Amino acid sequence: MPNEALFQQALSFFIQRAGRTPTVAAFAPGRVEVLGNHTDYNEGFVLSAAIDRGTFFLAAPRTDGRCRLSDAVHPDLQSEFPAANPSPIKNQESWTNYVRGVWALLAPPERATGFDGVIAGDIPLGAGLSSSAALEISAAIAFRDIFGLKTDPLELARIGQAAEHRYAGVKCGLLDQVTSLFGQLDHLVETDFRSLNVRRPPFPANARLIVCNTGVKHQLVESAYNERRTHCEEAAAWFRARLPHPVSALRDVSMAEWEQWAAQMPPILAKRSAHVIGENERVVKGVQFLREGRLDRFGRLMFESHASSRYNFQNSCPALDFLVERAQRLPGVLGARLSGGGFGGSVVVLAETPRAESIATALRRSAEMEFGRTLDPLILRPSEGARPFPLPLRSK
Ligand code: GLA
Repeated sequence: MPNEALFQQALSFFIQRAGRTPTVAAFAPGRVEVLGNHTDYNEGFVLSAAIDRGTFFLAAPRTDGRCRLSDAVHPDLQSEFPAANPSPIKNQESWTNYVRGVWALLAPPERATGFDGVIAGDIPLGAGLSSSAALEISAAIAFRDIFGLKTDPLELARIGQAAEHRYAGVKCGLLDQVTSLFGQLDHLVETDFRSLNVRRPPFPANARLIVCNTGVKHQLVESAYNERRTHCEEAAAWFRARLPHPVSALRDVSMAEWEQWAAQMPPILAKRSAHVIGENERVVKGVQFLREGRLDRFGRLMFESHASSRYNFQNSCPALDFLVERAQRLPGVLGARLSGGGFGGSVVVLAETPRAESIATALRRSAEMEFGRTLDPLILRPSEGARPFPLPLRSK
C-alpha cells in the first residue's frame, strides 16, 4: 500500500504552495530486480517486482507557460521552468530533469501551457530502487491524465526511459519503468525485453524479499553504467561478425557459443558477455524453478548471479559483497544478490517467511559492525504497479 500519510502531506503542501487543489494525482512504485542483471538493454529477460515505496505526483494545469515543481518532503527544493521545450539542466535543480523530460515528451505542444506540480517520495535515493523511474512514471501518469491522453503503459515506459537518456544522460534499459508500471501485488514481473511481453508469475507464498541498502553511492554510476552498455554492444558486434546466425544483441548468443569463442575474444568483452548470457539463462531456469516451487534452486541462481556480477561484470562493490556473503551464512536465506545497476545500492535477499525478521536483524547488526552506520532492511512482498491516485472529493 502506498504511504497514505505521505499523500496527505503532499496534498496539504500543494494547496499551500499553489493556493488551489490539484486536479490529478498519481503514484508510481520503485522496483527491486530479483534475477537478470543488465539483460534488459541486451534484449534479454528479467524477473523483478514493484515495491511498496514510491513517488506521488500531484498536479494542476497552468495557462501562463510556466511549470512550477516542488518537493513536499524537501520543501527547499523548488524549481520553475518554461512549458515550451524545457531543456535539461546541470545545476542544483538537476533533480527536475526527469520531470522536464517527461513533460517535453508527453505534453501535446499546442496544449502545453504549464503546470503546478508537487512530488513526495519515500524511496531512499541512490539505493538502486529506481526512485528516478518512480518520479518519471508518476509524472507521466499525471500529465497523461491532465491532457486526457490514452497513452498506453509501454509508451509511458518508453517516455520515462527517453527522459532518462536525454535529460539525465543514463543509457538505461526499460526495466525500471516497466516494473513500476506492470507491478502486481504478490506477483513478480517477468519481462522479455525483445518482445516486451510481460508475464506475472505468482511470488511464492512462503517467501519474503529483504532489501538491504548499503548506503554506498558510486560517484560515477552513470559513466560506469554507460560503459558497461557499450561493452555489451561491442561484444554483440564481435559475435555478429563470427556466428553463422543473426545476432542483434547478446540475447542471441548461447553459453555454448560463448564457450566456443571466449578464448579468442578481447578478455573484457568475454567477461561482460559471460555475465549477460549467463543471466539470461538463469532467468529462464529461474522461472521454471519458481513454477515447480523449487525455491532453494531459485535462490542458488541468485548467488550465481551475484558472483557473475562481481567477477565478470565488475559492477559489485565490497559492501554489496559483504552483505551477500553474510546473508549466505544465515539460516532461512535462499538466495542473495545485488539488485539493479550495481556499483553500490542494494542487495536483495530471498528469505523463508518465518525467518525474515531474524535475517533482517542479523544483516542490520553485521552491517553496523562492518560499515559503522545504520542500515534499514525492508522486508517486502511484491506490490501493485503505478496508477492514478484518487483525490479526496472535496479537493477537486
Ligand atoms: C538500472 C537500469 C536498468 C537495468 C538495471 C540493471 O536499474 O536503469 O535499465 O539495466 O540497472 O539490470
